[in-house]
Amino acid sequence: MNCRSLLLGLALVAVACGQAPRKQSNLPVYLDDAQPLEARVDDAFSKMTLDEKIAMVHAQSKFSSPGVPRLGIPEIWCTDGPHGIRAEVLWDEWDQAGWTNDSITAFPALSGLAATWDRELSRLYGKSIGEEARYRNKTVLLGPGVNIYRFPLNGRNFEYMGEDPYLAGEMVVPYIEGVQSNGVAVCVKHYALNNSEVNRHTANTIVDDRTLYEIYLPAFKAAVQKGHAWSIMAAYNLYNDEHLCSNEILLDKILRGEWGFDGVVISDWGGVHNTLQTAKHGVDLEYGSWTDGLTMGKTNAYDNYYLAKAYKDAILKGEIGTEELDARVKRLLRLVFRTSMDRNRPFGSQTSPEHYAAARKIGAESIVLLKNDGVLPMAANPGKILVVGENAVKMMTVGGGSSSLKAKLEVSPLDGIKARYPGAEVVWERGYVGDVGGEYNGVSTGQDLREGRDAATLIADAVKAAEGADYVIFIGGLNKADRQDSEGLDRVQYGLPYGQDAVIEALAGVTDKLVVVNISGNAVAMPWVEQVPAIVQDWYLGTQAGHSLADVLSGDVNPSGHLPFTIPVSYDKNPVQTEAQYPGILRGTTIDGMPVLDMEYTEGIYVGYRWYDLHGGVLFPFGHGLSYTTFEFGEPKIDRKSMKDNGTVTVTVPVKNTGSVAGAEVVQLYIADAESSVSRPAKELKGFAKVCLEPGQKADVSFTIDREALSFFDADNHAWVAEKGLFRAIVAASAQDVRGTVEFELK
Ligand code: BGC
Repeated sequence: MNCRSLLLGLALVAVACGQAPRKQSNLPVYLDDAQPLEARVDDAFSKMTLDEKIAMVHAQSKFSSPGVPRLGIPEIWCTDGPHGIRAEVLWDEWDQAGWTNDSITAFPALSGLAATWDRELSRLYGKSIGEEARYRNKTVLLGPGVNIYRFPLNGRNFEYMGEDPYLAGEMVVPYIEGVQSNGVAVCVKHYALNNSEVNRHTANTIVDDRTLYEIYLPAFKAAVQKGHAWSIMAAYNLYNDEHLCSNEILLDKILRGEWGFDGVVISDWGGVHNTLQTAKHGVDLEYGSWTDGLTMGKTNAYDNYYLAKAYKDAILKGEIGTEELDARVKRLLRLVFRTSMDRNRPFGSQTSPEHYAAARKIGAESIVLLKNDGVLPMAANPGKILVVGENAVKMMTVGGGSSSLKAKLEVSPLDGIKARYPGAEVVWERGYVGDVGGEYNGVSTGQDLREGRDAATLIADAVKAAEGADYVIFIGGLNKADRQDSEGLDRVQYGLPYGQDAVIEALAGVTDKLVVVNISGNAVAMPWVEQVPAIVQDWYLGTQAGHSLADVLSGDVNPSGHLPFTIPVSYDKNPVQTEAQYPGILRGTTIDGMPVLDMEYTEGIYVGYRWYDLHGGVLFPFGHGLSYTTFEFGEPKIDRKSMKDNGTVTVTVPVKNTGSVAGAEVVQLYIADAESSVSRPAKELKGFAKVCLEPGQKADVSFTIDREALSFFDADNHAWVAEKGLFRAIVAASAQDVRGTVEFELK
């Protein structure tokens, strides 16, 4: 027997004895990737000094924190997130560092991803953005965001996945799996109850337990338990009179306790405000507490973080033990082993043709056709196309806060339309002046959007240019300027800004071939809805924005996006109306030295369609989206009339494409509890499927649901309860377009 066959023989004996063959290695356990993760964590941990442990739990720069240099354990490098990889910034500042190799693919905003209602596109998104993060050697991608769309003024709704916890929970899981398949951790944000921006550091959310568990936590829970997210970001705001970064209930009791989260909790930047409470119950890793560390005197500012010197002193004085620190460091080591110390992780790629194709496809499939009186799709060979509106040309990848990007390419809607119709005369008129800025943290669009004409002249010029146009396409909406779709502040009006309604109404007066394209991450008022024959909801679609839009307007792609939130007729119809609900009321006391406001979620579980189902006021419902074809739903059938304990029921509905082009329909399943001891919504989304059909093709769409889909959260007993009695399974094409109902009983 030669050596090779001897070794093989030993390996076979090992397998025969029930042991996995082990690679012979002189490496210490923590460096040996044949060893189980926890053994590596324990081994590395056992070699660390107190100073090394303290160093690991707080930042060393704006976006990085130390590893253990002595042991060769790498640093942790974070990046925003969530729509593309942020430009490199200076060591201590938000400003970009001016690198020339950090231009990336900008992917569609997450509100758009949610509008695809397509789990596989979410996986593709995660995989693609994860590859870019990996290429740039990042450990953690700061995203995705799954805060619930509570009302239409939240400046960050564009970064989140809509108003429904089930939709957000289903869409976030494949995103996470896609990112983490690259050996890059996601950091799901902002946990939790961060549903508005104004006063985000000082607003204390008052919410009942049932609402917390049914509306605001499920998407995070799905991210942790189904997506196996490796990190999560604690939000800025307060809950139960404690900042989220040191919140005992949300972090210790629910996240780590009830959900068994074994990953890292990272603070939002500057979200930590104390040492002892944070050390006991709070985040594992503190970021952003102070910046510009190099100008704060002789001592590095990072040493003054709450989880730095003050933490070590508290341990040495016996004010707190080391148990929490040890757990924290082990979680951080686990993160490092899952990511940068995983020798098998792929290498990633940046701005590849595949990423551009993914961005274009996701973008096109996210666009929602809200209304269409026969104007779209556009004819194959239009003579003249008039495009009106600032958003047709304005670069949208720059601005909006931490999701701002330095994209290598951004195809504007105007350029997308021009590229699609090379033979047409495509004319652009500005129509209105919105935001002429174009710079964020040193990244500039390079666009000069200054304008000399006044509002009346701009409208008159647009109306004049409409003469002889085969199509007039108005492209407006919101943008990424402060008080629009942007971090840190919320919107101040529900209506379109910058006098856009007047432009749209003037154009509607001179053409019956008007298409209004609203680019936003939020619902807006549409007082002209009856005068405009075609309305399209578009999103911030990034690098391929213009191509994605042209794909849909031309009919190259049949629209299949559906709204992830309700568009109410007017602001006074939405569930958040009182000052106590938003922006909250100053209570006259301070927490962590800050004057705190109470913000009461008195609307309770009645958020989004759960509210509008009771109170009306809907212009376009949640789940709505038209197609260039038509779909007919047959009678839904159920496989059994009653569900037993631990049982399931399956609802099947035949769907047929009755039009003349191929298309995809989002078939939605809502459940209604017909007999309940507590107040429940008229219906709740518990299943959806996107089904693509050729003309004339028919398919059976099935949904299997279990008791979980029937349950409400019983706060008194802290348990999910499905009460026996009658339930309805409602098959629908939107929250207001019910196509069939079947009943069943829970025995
Ligand atoms: C934002 C986070 C972001 C972080 C780092 C904060 O202001 O709320 O979403 O990841 O900054 O840029």
